[in-house]
Amino acid sequence: MNVRILKDEKAVARAVAARVIATLAAKPTAVLGLPTGRTPVQFYARLRAEYAAGRVDFAQATTFNLDEFLGLSGDHPASYRAFMETHLFEHVNLPRRRIHFLNGVASDPVAECARYEAAIRRAGGIDLQILGIGSNGHIGFNEPGPGLIGDSHPARLAPGTRRSNADLFDGRVQAVPPNALSMGVGTILRSRAIVLVATGVGKAGVIKATVEGLVTTRVPASLLQLHGDVEVFLDGAAASKLLRH
Ligand code: GLP
Repeated sequence: MNVRILKDEKAVARAVAARVIATLAAKPTAVLGLPTGRTPVQFYARLRAEYAAGRVDFAQATTFNLDEFLGLSGDHPASYRAFMETHLFEHVNLPRRRIHFLNGVASDPVAECARYEAAIRRAGGIDLQILGIGSNGHIGFNEPGPGLIGDSHPARLAPGTRRSNADLFDGRVQAVPPNALSMGVGTILRSRAIVLVATGVGKAGVIKATVEGLVTTRVPASLLQLHGDVEVFLDGAAASKLLRH
């Protein structure tokens, strides 16, 4: 893994945005995998600013988001789709038909996940997958466990994951859906390049386990060690427990 430690959250956001801009400059039809959460908020702000300044063009790009809550439609204000509309989609020239999301209210969630995998394949696969990380090591909604599921699938959220998503539901943990639809670790690892982003001291322990620990399904992000093109963008706080950097 190629670890890059930057001064602060803002520098991380700038570097990740620059990575996306370079990807689209080299390949205007690039397929991007996108995350939600607190971590990418500044990155999306930076991308909006770069777009407003004419430095990036999404006209031919395609996006696939990592995950969505099961039971929430895309127009529910706490849905990840709504998050993406607010933070990016409403502000840039990404064609609507090339924005892809797992449908949280699909009548058959398993079939919906198969549809998503097929859509990713039809688009030619993901060129650049951007990831946040849960403090337990989850990526997307692939929670730690004795085994992991390769393809997109319905997933049960760990209690801590529901707590950390409560802000989207006015702080009410009970309102956070207990299940979600998520790309699998195989879906993620099939991306041609991966960028993992983490900021803040709260992520320092899990970043150490991800980068320097054993490859284990108990820390799903550690499976990224198996991929040949992973960059990890960290601020000093998230990098503070790494020994080798
Ligand atoms: C959420 C999402 C993940 C995200 C992670 C970290 O539950 N499903 O895709 O990376 O948790 O979130 P945050 O950036 O808010 O710490």
